[in-house]
Amino acid sequence: MIQNPKRYTITAALPYTNGPIHIGHLAGVYVPADIYARFLRQQNKDVAFICGSDEHGVAISMKAKKEGITPQQVIDKYNKIIKDSFQEFGISFDNYSRTSAKIHHDTASDFFRKLYDEGKFIEEVTEQLYDAEANQFLADRFVTGTCPKCGNEDAYGDQCEKCGSSLNATDLINPKSTITGTTPVLKETKHWFLPLDQYDTFLREWILEGHKNDWKPNVYGQVKSWLDDGLKPRAVTRDLDWGIDVPVEGAEGKKLYVWFDAPIGYISSTKEWAAREGKDWQPYWKDQDTKLVHFIGKDNIVFHCVIFPAMLKAEGNYILPDNVPANEFLNLEGNKLSTSKNWAVWLNEYLVDFPEKQDVLRYVLTANAPETKDNDFTWKDFQARNNNELVAIFGNFINRVVVLTNKYYNGVIPAPNALSEVDKQTLAELKAYPAVIESSIERYRFREALGELMNVARLGNKYLADEEPWKLIKTDEERVKTQMYVALQIAAALSTLAEPFLPFSAAKLKNMLNIAEPIAWNKVAETSDLIPAGHQIGQAELLFAKIEDEEIQKQIDKLEATKVANAAEAKTVEPQKETTQFEDFAKIDLRVGTIIEAEKMPKANKLLVLKVDTGIDVRTIVSGIAEHFTPEELIGKQVTVLVNLAPRKLRGVESEGMLLLTETKEGKLVFVNPDEAGVYNGATIG
Ligand code: MF3
Ligand code: ZN
Repeated sequence: MIQNPKRYTITAALPYTNGPIHIGHLAGVYVPADIYARFLRQQNKDVAFICGSDEHGVAISMKAKKEGITPQQVIDKYNKIIKDSFQEFGISFDNYSRTSAKIHHDTASDFFRKLYDEGKFIEEVTEQLYDAEANQFLADRFVTGTCPKCGNEDAYGDQCEKCGSSLNATDLINPKSTITGTTPVLKETKHWFLPLDQYDTFLREWILEGHKNDWKPNVYGQVKSWLDDGLKPRAVTRDLDWGIDVPVEGAEGKKLYVWFDAPIGYISSTKEWAAREGKDWQPYWKDQDTKLVHFIGKDNIVFHCVIFPAMLKAEGNYILPDNVPANEFLNLEGNKLSTSKNWAVWLNEYLVDFPEKQDVLRYVLTANAPETKDNDFTWKDFQARNNNELVAIFGNFINRVVVLTNKYYNGVIPAPNALSEVDKQTLAELKAYPAVIESSIERYRFREALGELMNVARLGNKYLADEEPWKLIKTDEERVKTQMYVALQIAAALSTLAEPFLPFSAAKLKNMLNIAEPIAWNKVAETSDLIPAGHQIGQAELLFAKIEDEEIQKQIDKLEATKVANAAEAKTVEPQKETTQFEDFAKIDLRVGTIIEAEKMPKANKLLVLKVDTGIDVRTIVSGIAEHFTPEELIGKQVTVLVNLAPRKLRGVESEGMLLLTETKEGKLVFVNPDEAGVYNGATIG
């Protein structure tokens, strides 16, 4: 771990531009990265916080195929949506670039060319999977199959997202083309490979020995298991039509593998930023005194801890990450987040339902961050954390302080009298918090850090609850001045300490306290005189508002509807039955009838007892449709009846026939109706 770095390069995984981003992305990568960057800026550190859109690769091509538009249209659409979401949630990138930018094509191309010229690649003609029907080689997400490591049946051609293994498409058991669904054949093609096996010693020394104690156990453990399995050369080029051209002769029609170009995107985005700011980009990537930190989700570990470092090592001039604090996954209401199944809380939709509540989501996702294991986001927990923590603790404290200061002193901070023991102890505790929070953040424990921030608000709440200035004001006005002064110092400290976590609320709080120049992080540790006596504060505004049950129910209903829609989507049409002869069919007597009576069968949930006028007679039919129709809505309904079915007893009632029903995609039963005026009971069907 690098001590006292001169500067920080902080990267957050470049999102694929094949869909909007959801809470899983925010919780796993962007919120922690943003807390870290904001915290460092508070400390006046030199920070480059870098991100951008990942616009190549099969994920984009597949989306374009699915929507019937061009890859360029896909990336333009989602780049904008994603970029806007980041901005709306206060993710404070210094630069957000795109891998389709010229500067990136040039940078990635030059990087490949340098490694190529220096003989760092193996050039080899090998057999690769080929879809003969689509006339196309299959790699990455164009092929799925069973993971040879963990048995997951939906592993991709370059990676298994379940166990995190990086794979070659030819490793998959039972490969299938995702384009045509056919089984691919093998066909020869030339590619360039990065011989990862040659980097084994370097990776072992650097990570297994060098970062045993400071990297997260989940990251360290994954790396160790790959190294112990043995690394293999990995193709860094592809036979695809969307991506960066392979810049060598004899590679016409070939593109760089997306995971070769995307991480270089961090470098090109830094270049773009530096050029705009009139800075030199190179120290941010090449100076040993720079601390490079990659924020990613766990499915990206192999690329950031093995492949990209091997590329950087091969290039020779670059620094390596000091840490890769990858998070586990966030689930939603017990199920895995999924873009294709629409099982997600999309950021753009969240803001429509909860305008101005960015900090609430930031708070909940941090408090419940999947730092050491997969975690579950539930709407009930979201509501509880808002109402019981943000509103009841943080908001309540601030509201009391600001309201009372306005009430007692017209908003002018009173001069304190001599401090009591409790006052001194409270202020001493307050001063200790910056170091406590700092220590958690530096170890990438953002949930813990947030917990400590809330303890500052708890400190304030407890102080007011114990001191009760609202009672004392009647008997000891002088003492209340000191109490309010102390409480105001805690509120002022919160405006600084909360900023990395809750930037919008911190800004609101600063505004309420009329703090024009933000109080420096270190000042909170040094002095208890953060806002002086005589300073005029503003009026109280609501920092956090209670979220009602109806708002939460609406979200839960929305997810229920998604479940129903997915089940409908998954409905498959049953195959046709065996051929039947006309004579057999002719034995079946179908008639039009009208339901004239209907009632529930006692003690049976599904059964209705019906009286049906079949034109021949009025008979009893027992039908298992009680969960789909009320008796009332059935009376008078014309239906199709199988009248010559052998009678049978259901719960002791003899049923003399059967009603014909079919179902909707959502699984609701509906009648097969004649649906023509003038059709009479007893009319034959056939
Ligand atoms: N687009 C990848 C994903 O969403 C992440 C790319 S990170 C980078 O999983 F290193 F390639 F930039
Ligand atoms: Zn696997």
